[in-house]
Amino acid sequence: MSHHEFVFRGEKSRELAQRDTRTLSPSYTRSYGFAISHGQGAEVWDVDGNRYVDFAAGIAVLSTGYSHPRVVQAIQEQATRYIHIGATDFFCPEPIKLAEKLQQIIPIHRARPEDKRVYFANSGTEAIESALKLARYREHRSHLIAFYGGFHGRTMGSLSLTASKSKQRGGYPYIPGGVTHVPYPARNECGDCHDGESCCSQCWSDAVGFIEKFVFKKVPPQEVAAVVVEPIQGEGGYLVPRDDFFPRLRQMCDKYGILLIADEIQSGVGRTGQWTALEHWGVSADIVCLAKGLGSGVPIGAMVAHNNVMRLWSPGTHASTFGGNPLACAAALATLDIIEEENLMPRADELGRLTMDRLHRFMQDHPSVRRVDGKGFMIGIDFASASGEPLPDFRDEVVNRCYLNGLLLLGCGTGGVRFAPPLVLTRSLLEEGLDILEHVIAEVEETMWQPAS
Ligand SMILES: Cc1ncc(COP(=O)(O)O)c(C=O)c1O
Repeated sequence: MSHHEFVFRGEKSRELAQRDTRTLSPSYTRSYGFAISHGQGAEVWDVDGNRYVDFAAGIAVLSTGYSHPRVVQAIQEQATRYIHIGATDFFCPEPIKLAEKLQQIIPIHRARPEDKRVYFANSGTEAIESALKLARYREHRSHLIAFYGGFHGRTMGSLSLTASKSKQRGGYPYIPGGVTHVPYPARNECGDCHDGESCCSQCWSDAVGFIEKFVFKKVPPQEVAAVVVEPIQGEGGYLVPRDDFFPRLRQMCDKYGILLIADEIQSGVGRTGQWTALEHWGVSADIVCLAKGLGSGVPIGAMVAHNNVMRLWSPGTHASTFGGNPLACAAALATLDIIEEENLMPRADELGRLTMDRLHRFMQDHPSVRRVDGKGFMIGIDFASASGEPLPDFRDEVVNRCYLNGLLLLGCGTGGVRFAPPLVLTRSLLEEGLDILEHVIAEVEETMWQPAS
């Protein structure tokens, strides 16, 4: 749908969309006509005065909501002292404090807190770029393994790993090589199998076996620098892997001296009820990339690694003017404190379970809902036809009608939507949002879903 075909909830929203079309890049993906005025917690208002419950959190970013008073205060206090110094050239307290905190909370394979080191970037894709450069710098191993459906960013290095939609790569020559993609072993991708115990041929995939049996025929394991993986696939469809995947992948990486890089950019910072989603499988990575939720909306990325790896870099091998920006670090420090002190992770876990239960019950009477899966506040809902084909148009209609009814949602995968609200979402807002979502799905089913003939 182009912007011109959107249904807007008011004239001010329409006017902004028109100015947007005349000024901003046409590369942005807009699915409906929401134009923000302001937000608070997990509620947000558009420029025409309409109120929304937010299940999108600015693409899984607003961990503490739109403008948590403590985040605002931290930014204000920092801004009055100084806004920038260049933390790569001068010593600077805020990135040091934040790194000390990340040393405590982000698990790294075989590392005590003091064994970890942090590199600060300004976005997710930059955190991934830094991880790729570091992994390849070590031992000069050149090759990387990544997963179909994975999304790791859009700068050239990250794009070489991204394989979630062909549109993201199509038309760009000279995307760097040296990457082999393998199928992501999602559990229950078809919607009929459960817990990955006895999955069908449609969704079962033995990724680790595939790497050992096939990929290592193409590339010797000694030349593989790293496996890069999202613990729960985000843009690719909010897919949870089979339970045996990460323990086996960890074993394989240890066997061949390959680094495991966890892209926790969407799944990290408490979203799944743990600081990092990999903790659900009792496994830790050698390098963890964070961004999105870390700064509650202030741009920041971080790459946390074992010092055995990071110490191979010498001064000048990698840096960034804005990396470790004190405003962003102050916002991130406040964010991490809030998540801890307001018990947002146990809440995400508890309310996430409630959401899953409710959506599973709803699914029983609504055949368009093919799959509901996730952890904490990272839940995917897929729509499919009676024969199991993904339904992107049906999904777009659900997302659009949710907007018209006061709920912000975003799509993911081919025919799915994601539940990724701010971690501060209250129980009553959760119920209100789910009421809207269920009502809308039922309504769209009446006009757009056809039973098997
Ligand atoms: C898992 C994952 N990795 C990397 C990125 C890229 O982050 P950014 O858009 O901040 O560059 C994203 C963004 O959606 C993501 O979800």
